[in-house]
Amino acid sequence: MIVCQNIKQLREQTAMWRKNDERIAFVPTMGNLHDGHLSLVEIAHQHAVRVVVSIYVNPLQFAPGEDFASYPRTLEDDLKQLQMLGVDLVFTPDTQIVYPNGDQQNTFVQVPKLSDILEGEFRPGFFTGVCTVVLKLFNMVQPDCAVFGEKDFQQLLVVRQMVNDLDLPVEIIAGAIKREADGLAMSSRNNYLNSADRATSRYLSKALAFCRQQIDRGVNVDEAEKNAVATLQKQGFIVDYVTLREAERLEKVSPADITANTELVILAAAKLGNTRLIDNVRFVKSAKS
Ligand code: PAJ
Repeated sequence: MIVCQNIKQLREQTAMWRKNDERIAFVPTMGNLHDGHLSLVEIAHQHAVRVVVSIYVNPLQFAPGEDFASYPRTLEDDLKQLQMLGVDLVFTPDTQIVYPNGDQQNTFVQVPKLSDILEGEFRPGFFTGVCTVVLKLFNMVQPDCAVFGEKDFQQLLVVRQMVNDLDLPVEIIAGAIKREADGLAMSSRNNYLNSADRATSRYLSKALAFCRQQIDRGVNVDEAEKNAVATLQKQGFIVDYVTLREAERLEKVSPADITANTELVILAAAKLGNTRLIDNVRFVKSAKS
């Protein structure tokens, strides 16, 4: 496995693969890898001969006061796991390489509308940071396809829109959410939870599952969302949102618009102590109700 920090070496290697007609799949990450990330690597192997993973904690997507400084950095461990999975190249640039002029002096990418709601509302500038670094990484690696997790469902849609809008020749592939045994969606941020909050955190996925059941049974959407918020608040969560949306543009759906074929997603974000968790459940309404 090649581990490289600079763009020149990365480009030389990927150019060689392209010359040999070897398809390249790319998995961008911020490291501190868990089974969620590793499942994306496995998907990448199914789509290409060569797999490139990047590990870079991108300062541009953290607002002042967020956890950039404390974000877990576990490079040695990460590399061991990627080696075991047969990854071809791990790109680990530092900020001097990604933002040589400083992250505030860099040209940026802004996806309108979809970036302004939900996560974008609670984390202004977040998706600009994500899109800018993802586009830069795409230009550095020049992959044929890239794999993103549904755990960050809005991020997946925003990246898809950027790729469409800017005509990038990269196929975006989605990977399903990997969960702990109690249902908590895996995340590097779960490490921040103390043991009491870790025990409570399982209610987030349970509230989503229950909300989905209620909507499936024809309970009024507002009521189902409010029930989920109330349940979470009772458990000690500070809830940013629990909301049902259609799964393409994340627009609100009125009950009349929901047919048996409408792809739906319930998205949630909530804090336990200082730890902000997000989760979602995607579904189509069952035909019976
Ligand atoms: P990071 O949080 O490290 O996640 C990297 C990728 O792993 C993302 O596509 C994310 O959706 C996916 N992922 C995380 N937890 C997952 C889980 N439990 N199941 C399945 N996939 C999961 O997302 C980022 O980094 C950054 O924003 C990045 C795209 C790398 C840009 O900096």
